[in-house]
Amino acid sequence: MPEEVKLYESPALRAVTGPTIRPGGLTLTERALAYCSLPTEAAVLDVGCGNGATVAHLRHEHGLKAFGLDASGRLLGTGRNATDGLPLIRGRAEALPFADSCLAAIFCECVLSLVSAPQAALGEWRRALAPRGYLVVSDLYARNGGREVRPESGALMSCLAGVTGSRRLYERMRTAGFEVLLFEDHTPLLRRLAAQLVWAHGSMAAFWKAVGGGCGDGCLDQGGRSGYYLMVARRGADDHG
Ligand SMILES: C[S@@+](CC[C@H](N)C(=O)[O-])C[C@H]1O[C@@H](n2cnc3c(N)ncnc32)[C@H](O)[C@@H]1O
Repeated sequence: MPEEVKLYESPALRAVTGPTIRPGGLTLTERALAYCSLPTEAAVLDVGCGNGATVAHLRHEHGLKAFGLDASGRLLGTGRNATDGLPLIRGRAEALPFADSCLAAIFCECVLSLVSAPQAALGEWRRALAPRGYLVVSDLYARNGGREVRPESGALMSCLAGVTGSRRLYERMRTAGFEVLLFEDHTPLLRRLAAQLVWAHGSMAAFWKAVGGGCGDGCLDQGGRSGYYLMVARRGADDHG
């Protein structure tokens, strides 16, 4: 079995994205913050925080009591080295070490499609959110409504792993007891990242080779079908079914 390649841990990707390992950097974080108007000192969690770039931004630029959680010891280590004292926790998105109803918002940036049990994770995030608390998700999606693709272990593990269509995303949110307030397409941010990767490496094929994965030129945009979205949802009433 070939070793699993985690695109988000690759220095070749981070050399292009910088500390935020996603299309658009902090653009959609800022857009969501403007939409949600969280009070200063509100407790928020960045699930799948990577090296904690969003956590540092939320704390230092927005005065929020932000925490980060991620499964990757490697990325958390990079974050801890870069910024002393950031509250970064090693853990799984599916089991948050937070009490019920204690968070004003959860951010989840370029992570949901990587989570192996997304419905269970959404239920867990709902548990930790305060009533009417916000869930901010940005991620890849299939713009043609295509079916979810989950590669076998050993395949390239990137944001492409569990990409699904918007209808399925809405269904998942409703089933988990969230009300979707906002869904915006931000595919140009994904295209810009792809262009930056090609600029840095000569072609997408050369980039995937540098990363050690097995994708070719069509992998990131899948013939133009992959898109990028921002969703803001809110924890709904307690009687969801
Ligand atoms: C594409 S990176 C995005 C990191 C960060 N949100 C950012 O935008 O810079 C995906 C992150 O999700 C984390 N991740 C994936 N599945 C996870 C899980 N089940 N629990 C916790 N973290 C997870 C990875 O370790 C990685 O840091």
